[in-house]
Amino acid sequence: MEQNRISEIYKELYDQAAAAKENAYAPYSNFQVGAALLAKDGRIFTGVNVENGSYGATICAERTACVKAVSEGCKEFSALAIASSGGEAWPCGICRQFLYEFGGDLAVITGEDREHLRVLSLNELLPEAFRL
Ligand code: THU
Repeated sequence: MEQNRISEIYKELYDQAAAAKENAYAPYSNFQVGAALLAKDGRIFTGVNVENGSYGATICAERTACVKAVSEGCKEFSALAIASSGGEAWPCGICRQFLYEFGGDLAVITGEDREHLRVLSLNELLPEAFRL
């Protein structure tokens, strides 16, 4: 696909992540995260971090989006955009492993804002990943 077209799709996906971020539930860290996961069939699943007073029960935005997708019968993804209240935010280690379950050939997009996006594949973010 033409590079400009890809960039525009990624910007729009990032916009959806940024909009979702407004629903983040982060009263403990005050660090809001939004994610938008683009499925190969064109559907987009958004997610936010949902914190818990028992801190370890917190779920990240990326996993929320992925869990929403899988529970709607969707398991093939092409891109994931992440926006946070702190600007550029790459997925944590748990999320990298969680997403890898559904394929390492996933474009992961984040940046300071929609005009300064960076893209790395999940395979780059999690080399030599564990697979059962
Ligand atoms: N968080 C995410 O939602 N995604 C990440 O990739 C990193 C961290 C959330 C978890 C917690 O609610 C807050 O950010 C601070 O760690």
